Order: sequence, then C-alpha cells, then structure tokens
Amino acid sequence: MLILGIETSCDETGVAIYNSEKGLLGHKLYSQVKLHAAYGGVVPELASRDHINYIMPLIDGLLKDCNLDIKDIEAIAYTSGPGLSGALLVGSSVAESLACALGIKSIPIHHLEGHLLAPMLESKKPQFPFIALLVSGGHSQIIHVKEIGQYMIIGDTLDDAAGEAFDKTAQLLGLGYPGGAALSKLAEQGVKHFDLPKPLLHSNGLDFSFSGLKTAVLYLVKKQSNLTKKIKADIAYAFEESITDVLVKKTIQALKQEGLNRIIISGGVGANKTLRKKIISECKKNNFEYFFPDLKFCTDNGAMIALAGALRVNLPNKNNYSFSVKPRWKLSEI
Ligand code: KG4
Ligand code: ZN
Repeated sequence: MLILGIETSCDETGVAIYNSEKGLLGHKLYSQVKLHAAYGGVVPELASRDHINYIMPLIDGLLKDCNLDIKDIEAIAYTSGPGLSGALLVGSSVAESLACALGIKSIPIHHLEGHLLAPMLESKKPQFPFIALLVSGGHSQIIHVKEIGQYMIIGDTLDDAAGEAFDKTAQLLGLGYPGGAALSKLAEQGVKHFDLPKPLLHSNGLDFSFSGLKTAVLYLVKKQSNLTKKIKADIAYAFEESITDVLVKKTIQALKQEGLNRIIISGGVGANKTLRKKIISECKKNNFEYFFPDLKFCTDNGAMIALAGALRVNLPNKNNYSFSVKPRWKLSEI
C-alpha cells in the first residue's frame, strides 16, 4: 500500500511516500529555520503562511521523484496535533481535501507517535515493547511503548523540555535559534572546565527538570568578564555533559524499572552525538539493545508520519473527511 505522509506541526514542511511492503520510497523537507531565526523563535503566523507556499510544490516534486501519480496514492497520513494550530490546519486541510478528492483513507497522526516510531524507518527495526526517550523542542518524555497506540508515559519534564534547554542555552551563548545542533558542535571544542548542576540525577523518579540548569548557565555567562570563544565552548561542553548525563541515567533507570531490554531515542535532541555515545556505552554495559532513527529523521519530517500512517492504516479510524486539529493533544489521550 502507498501512503503519503504530511507534517506541518511547526516550522518544517515535510512530505514522504511510504510503501508498506518496500519501506520509504522518498521524502522532501522544507525548513523555515532561516525565516524565524531573526525573531529568536517560531512566529506562528509566518509558519502557517510558509507551509501554504511550500506544501503543494513539495508533494508534486515528491511524486515526480518517485515516478508516481497522485492517483497511485492509497492513503494519506498527516499530523493533526500537537503543534501550532495554524500550521496544523495547513497540513490537515491539504491532506483531507486530497483524500476526499481521491476517495481514499485519511489518517490523522499524533506528532509524537511519529517521532516514537521513526526508528522503524531503518532496516534494523525495534520490536515491541521498548522504552523510548523522546527528546524534542517541546517534549522530554520516557515512554513505555507496548505496541502501536499503547504508550505509557513514565517520565516527563517538570518545566523546560531538553530541546528548549539546548535552545535557550545556545541563545545565551549567542548561537542563534534553534541552537541545539550549533551548541553541540561548539561543545566538541570545549573541555571540562566548569561544573553545572545535573538536576534530579539522583531522584528515584523518572521526571526531568532543566530550567535550573539553564539559569545556572545564565549566571555562569554573567560571571565571565570576557566571554571568549574558548569559554563559550567550555560552557557548551559542561551543559551538554550535564543534560546528557541526566537523560541517560533516567533512561537506563527506566529500562531496569520496567524490566525491558530495548531502547529507542527519538526527537530532535536524539540527533545529539554525545547523547548517542553515552546511551550506546550504557546499553553495551547492560546488554540492552538500542535503536536510533537516521539523523535526518530525528527532527521533524514527513517520513515518520507516513510510516505511522502505514502502521495505523488497518486500525479502526474515522471514515469521513471532517477534521479538527489538536494543538495540545496529549500522547496519553491517543
Ligand atoms: O523534534 P524536533 O525537530 O521538533 C519538535 O518536535 O520540537 O526538535 C527540535 C529540537 C530543537 O530544540 C533543536 O535545537 C534540537 O531539537 N536539536 C538538537 C540537535 N539537533 C536538533 N539538540 C541537541 N543536539 C543536536 N544535535
Ligand atoms: Zn517534532
């Protein structure tokens, strides 16, 4: 079966075609990062307008690249939440209208479910059940994934999400928005020179709290009389060490607590090299299996939505073409 996936929850327009027998046939992505960088964050109205500009040309280009006609598509999956309501409306209305015109199934997808299942785009796929560390710009969750649609959130952030902490710290170091990848690159040039807190590292629970870490960076930056590139790199290094130590410790704790031996890391922060290195090392020590999406499928993309659609296509679904976006849809309400 051929499924078209559409992602427009935030500042990336992503489209992909997934063949349920052969896997991913192709994908295209347009990132609005440059558009929003000047404002230091995503401007929702600009995001919606840019999705409108790019979504149809992206779909046309993808069909051409895959040597397919729109009439070959057999179902359309799209992100219907959570995210920015205007941005979600663009993808949802395009998906539902196309599906209605073609008389095929439309499948609304939870954005985080897309991230959770993204490692299944790879040739080595995780089997259920597994523990997922989902770390993105808006979420930091540890989830016990029993099977499609059965997600038990066992750890969550009490304040800032991991990606948010990366972005805010990057901003304090003058690295622009979103700064996660830039901060990580700068950290490669840093050495252990500063100590930053590792919030809740020794707590029994699986929750995270990163706002204190960000504030500690703020004070550290203010204390420097001359914020040289070298000092910035050492601060970036200390920040990355602290946040990844906490993420890894809690994830391994979750595996042991739930009696599972398989882990996946997903979401934008899942692209972080230090996080991956530490997870691999701990998994080897404990004989756990680990799975990551390809780097390009860690951040928002259409492929993960098309894949989630392929896995949901035979589950009971709504059968008309009405839709409503869910900007604050909780994964536990799926
Ligand atoms: O999953 P995603 O594309 O969007 C959301 O659903 O939020 O994640 C974006 C987040 C941003 O905060 C970005 O700074 C962060 O992922 N990010 C990284 C890296 N690449 C992206 N954080 C740390 N290290 C990276 N290499
Ligand atoms: Zn995302």
